[in-house]
Amino acid sequence: MIKGTFPVEKFNRIETPFYYYDVALLRKTLETIRNEVKDKNYHIHYAVKANANPRILKEIASYGFGADCVSGNEILRALECGFPASKIAFAGVGKTDKEIEIGLDNDIFCFNVESLPELEATANLAAKKNKTAKVAFRINPNIDAHTHKYITTGLNENKFGINEQDLPAAIEFVRKHNSLEMAGMHFHIGSQITDLSAFENLCVKALELQQWFEEQGTPLQLINVGGGLGINYQHPNHCPIADFKSYFHLYNKYLKLKDGQSLHFELGRSVVAPCGSLITRTTYVKKGVSKNFLIVDAGMTDLIRPALYQAFHHIENISSEGELENYDVVGPICESSDVFGKDISLNRAKRGDFVALRSAGAYGEIMASQYNCRNLPKAYFSDTL
Ligand code: LLP
Repeated sequence: MIKGTFPVEKFNRIETPFYYYDVALLRKTLETIRNEVKDKNYHIHYAVKANANPRILKEIASYGFGADCVSGNEILRALECGFPASKIAFAGVGKTDKEIEIGLDNDIFCFNVESLPELEATANLAAKKNKTAKVAFRINPNIDAHTHKYITTGLNENKFGINEQDLPAAIEFVRKHNSLEMAGMHFHIGSQITDLSAFENLCVKALELQQWFEEQGTPLQLINVGGGLGINYQHPNHCPIADFKSYFHLYNKYLKLKDGQSLHFELGRSVVAPCGSLITRTTYVKKGVSKNFLIVDAGMTDLIRPALYQAFHHIENISSEGELENYDVVGPICESSDVFGKDISLNRAKRGDFVALRSAGAYGEIMASQYNCRNLPKAYFSDTL
């Protein structure tokens, strides 16, 4: 069994559980993305929601990428960590006045507007400040991303985006309000998408809509296709970097841009998931009636994805080379859903062994909670440990 390489001796000094980030892998990923987009009018806005750890954000900002934020605090965090305001996009169905004002006061790149009432609120707040808000309509394209139902966002039944029938009214509204500037259209159909044909469908839809906007006399400066590229959770050691080549190639092939038009991406998971692992220690190995339980000191409070989305994270015993045995890997939280994996084949475990939950760099640390009065997990980085 190929396992990840971890500085296990150094882990002995650290209180578990904690997040461990492989900075070299993050940089390699960022370089890969930068190379794929370098000769095109493509712009990456890293989706801060995936991981807002300041060290990670600073690293990503240093590659010249922008940020995709979904709250006022994310905008402030992104600015603090070196993302220029001119590259910050602001999405979200429920932006409050205070949050819109944070965007306006900092002259961010673009507001991805998700409803007519939000358009009105943005226009009024911008007018009061004598500012012009650049807006892109987030359009619900009604495309099935074939991913988990909680992370599918582009269907009519989801709460996101402006429905197509409201577009004429939205265009009209922008025309009548000097405090708004029409920038383009925005989509996001879902997350952890591994069947790239969903993105192909999105391109077809985007081209149709682009044509429609032109017919209305509203040419678009930009198209923002959101994020969603999936990673290989099953084989983190074989496939540590997402298939950015195929992903960008697909957009290049299917989404022909007009002269001067830019294409924007909001990638989150694919940028940061592979570089992070949740490191936990085995508290007990418990023999059950029909199975063995590996009780670890991390729980759903540290990594909620398995409990919330039945998500798979590859698990390794990084302290042992013993025979393989099957375990249910569970946390200490008083909830039956506090299970990281059932019937997982691991090297024979004993008390104190370190266990790595892989590909946890996205939607891991940032979704941690203090349920059961637990401490939030800390983060450590491969180059400063
Ligand atoms: N843009 C928008 C408007 C989004 O809503 C999202 C993610 C992204 C970009 C980034 O998508 P990504 O490239 O990371 O797939 N907590 C869930 C994932 C929720 C994703 C929400 N939106 C999970 O742990 O799987």
